[in-house]
Amino acid sequence: MRLQVFLSHNGVSSRREAMDIIKAGRVKVNGCVVREPSTDVIGTEHVTVDNCPVETKQYTYLMLHKPAGYTTTKDDPHAEKTVMELLPKNLHHLSPVGRLDRETEGLLLFTNDGTWAQEIMHPKFHLDKTYLARMEGQLKDAEEKKLEAGIALRGEQTLPCRIFDVHYNGTETQATITIQEGRKRQVRMMFQSVGHRVVYLKRLAVGKLQLGDLKLGQWRELKKTDV
Ligand code: URA
Repeated sequence: MRLQVFLSHNGVSSRREAMDIIKAGRVKVNGCVVREPSTDVIGTEHVTVDNCPVETKQYTYLMLHKPAGYTTTKDDPHAEKTVMELLPKNLHHLSPVGRLDRETEGLLLFTNDGTWAQEIMHPKFHLDKTYLARMEGQLKDAEEKKLEAGIALRGEQTLPCRIFDVHYNGTETQATITIQEGRKRQVRMMFQSVGHRVVYLKRLAVGKLQLGDLKLGQWRELKKTDV
């Protein structure tokens, strides 16, 4: 991690202020003044600002199998039930990473590591998010191709995506869709745009992280390799 990010990560200052602090020669790494904000640190170094040690924060990462009916929010007085109610009190300092609609189930990540959360969510990092969707009617090949190529949603084009494992049972279509964005109600709106109301939606995976056999309403801490 860059020294500038390390300082802001650990609550010393904003990133911009960290740059000034470093350039002013106020930061030492293992006893030596470092004036280059992009210097790499791995976290085991002794870093000081004005000779005061910088305490490294403990980060926690977990995944929840969110049931339908819970609002993704830390604190919304209007929400009937929130995802925080599914975590024990000692984990209430964590925040959800992105959001799932109230009626969507599936994999929801939590952390107190803001930089990691941003990397998971931001489309520029091209992290796949995979959903299982059931919708009214039959999704036709041409509709599938159209969605995969990208459509205008609220005036902005969606990135190309993949739709696979499509099955029609005579009334509903079940399909798996992988997108790299996380726009509000994106999957529902994409299928709706070609005439199919989504009646069930579950996020199965974020990047390589899968729900696996985690039961509905349960959570688990991520392993180092997961993170
Ligand atoms: N897309 C949606 O439409 N809803 C979600 O909850 C997540 C992705």
